[in-house]
Amino acid sequence: MIAIKNLSVSYSAGLMKKKRRSILEDVSFDIQDGETLALIGESGCGKSTLAKAVLRLIPCDSGDVRLNGVNLSQLRRGPLRVYRKDMQIIFQNPESALNPRMRIYDSIAEMLRIHRLCAPRGQDERARVMALTEMVGLGAEHLRRYPHELSGGQVQRAVLARILSVRPKFLIADEPTSMLDVSVQAQILSLLRRTQAKNRHACLFISHDLDVVRIISDRIVVLHEGRIVETGVTDRVLDNPQHEYTSSLIRQFSQGYVEG
Ligand SMILES: Nc1ncnc2c1ncn2[C@@H]1O[C@H](COP(=O)(O)OP(=O)(O)OP(=O)(O)O)[C@@H](O)[C@H]1O
Ligand SMILES: [Mg+2]
Repeated sequence: MIAIKNLSVSYSAGLMKKKRRSILEDVSFDIQDGETLALIGESGCGKSTLAKAVLRLIPCDSGDVRLNGVNLSQLRRGPLRVYRKDMQIIFQNPESALNPRMRIYDSIAEMLRIHRLCAPRGQDERARVMALTEMVGLGAEHLRRYPHELSGGQVQRAVLARILSVRPKFLIADEPTSMLDVSVQAQILSLLRRTQAKNRHACLFISHDLDVVRIISDRIVVLHEGRIVETGVTDRVLDNPQHEYTSSLIRQFSQGYVEG
């Protein structure tokens, strides 16, 4: 349902505007409804760049992204806004995802207001925010608070409530638990799995933690210096890697010095 085809991205290199540095080259893959595809690769290989390019938060040199057959690369701003609702992202650093001057309640309700899903500040809005808060396991007492008054895990739950309020068809999780304690990590991951089982959205899960990847993903894409070097069903890729780079990633991980 989400199909990425021949995506290439470059950034301008240095002061010379014309000089470009290629970050992603000819990246193609697709993800079905209800499927989780893990994107792995060492720090700097282009994982977050790919996430931003897929959501059209940064321009691409070439290639296209299709959601249920609709080519998002060709949409103008107005129609694109409709599709933006269907594609949401959770970032590595939860604090930066919420407006520090907004109470948690308003951060969650804001999405409903932006996308006109219910009357602003009414009974229905309140009921929906409460239901979402309960779904992600965040106590209602946190709704009056500001992001800095919550723990990292609580903020990530609030971020998830905000995102799930619009029922996205496609969710990107860019190292969503790497800033959290191990115990909180497990809770957030199980929450992600439960909501996906319920909503059946497609998920691109970016991580350098192969233990997490094994539990959460159906398939894996391995990115090396902006190119896909291997892709396949999770257990096959991790137990029987075909590419030397994948083997070296797995080796480094088992020795505990992969930095992501
Ligand atoms: N806005 C930008 N302008 C220029 N170069 C950038 C920009 N953003 C990222 N880069 C470069 O692009 C490359 C890929 O960065 P990216 O953030 O996609 O890596 P990553 O795989 O997500 O790494 P990590 O695992 O550390 O998060 C890096 O070399 C980075 O320095
Ligand atoms: Mg990154």
